Amino acid sequence: MPMSLIVDGIDEAVGSTPLVRLDALFPDSGIEILAKLESVNPGGSTKDRPARGMVRDALKTGRLTRGGTVVESSSGNLGVALARACNAHDVRFVCVVDARTNATTVRLITALGGEVDVVTEPDPETGDLLTARFHRVEELLAEIPGAVNLYQYGNPANPRAHYDGTMREIAEATGHQVDVLMAAVSTTGTIGGCAAYIRDHRMDTRVVAVDAVGSVLFGGTAAPRLLPGMGAGVVTELSTQVDPDQVIRMRALDCVVGARHLARSEGILAGASTGGVVSALGDLIPDLAPGTRVVFMVHDGGVPYLETVYDDEWVRDNLDADAAAIAEGLDQLRRTARRG
Ligand SMILES: Cc1ncc(COP(=O)(O)O)c(C=O)c1O
Repeated sequence: MPMSLIVDGIDEAVGSTPLVRLDALFPDSGIEILAKLESVNPGGSTKDRPARGMVRDALKTGRLTRGGTVVESSSGNLGVALARACNAHDVRFVCVVDARTNATTVRLITALGGEVDVVTEPDPETGDLLTARFHRVEELLAEIPGAVNLYQYGNPANPRAHYDGTMREIAEATGHQVDVLMAAVSTTGTIGGCAAYIRDHRMDTRVVAVDAVGSVLFGGTAAPRLLPGMGAGVVTELSTQVDPDQVIRMRALDCVVGARHLARSEGILAGASTGGVVSALGDLIPDLAPGTRVVFMVHDGGVPYLETVYDDEWVRDNLDADAAAIAEGLDQLRRTARRG
């Protein structure tokens, strides 16, 4: 790990995240589990990679210049990452979020010099908050002279950051030997970039997308989703270029249970989508041959989720599950992931 290197500026501190072997997560599973700790990026999530990539790309092509403005829709993490990346290049940043965005995330964006525009009402036609956010972005682009939308949902620089960074690092650390790669999906930039790297390097890796129940990605059926970061209310342009080997859909309670299990068994405090990935892995384990090497993404850290995923009262009020139901979920996850 190049942990002790001096890097020039915070942009250069993005990436080279640790790949951590987890022995306590599912100890009787008979498989090898490696977690890509994207939560240790400077902005606390893997979105630092596409944010840096898209800003650099826009500056290089001249679409964006110093003193210009970026307007972007984000459920939070990209907003935090862009606030930092834009600030570093003297670019004004306006982030369109919605009511699901964690309060801490909104404060982080502001603390890093970004401006936040909150959409509270879903789009009247589709009933979807993401669509409402897109409309608000259009309004702001029309209002602010020269404003640019980096459009993380279709910008090729988004998956490219994961091709050149996330997956290359995983492949180099494992000698290109990964049996199963699991990632949560939203724009599908992460999984799309990783899948393209896997294909181009002829790796024998099963790519598993973990989506939210209620997301319309990969043929899903629209329904309300409570937790930010996973799933999408519209079919993103990037998702039409990705064909995962398997799609697993998780409920919000599965995300809570998975995140809490990861925190308690391994001391890794992660966000909701990573919790969904952990629960999905638990479900997969009975079908995996002993010795299978699984790599999964820890997409972001858990601090912004302390008032939701890690709060019993929030879970009871919003997911209709009391502490006993959470404990039962944890037991069940441990039981399912036991071999033999
Ligand atoms: C919390 C969280 N979950 C999931 C993802 C995967 O999202 P995407 O499909 O947009 O790459 C991200 C990306 O950074 C994330 O921050």
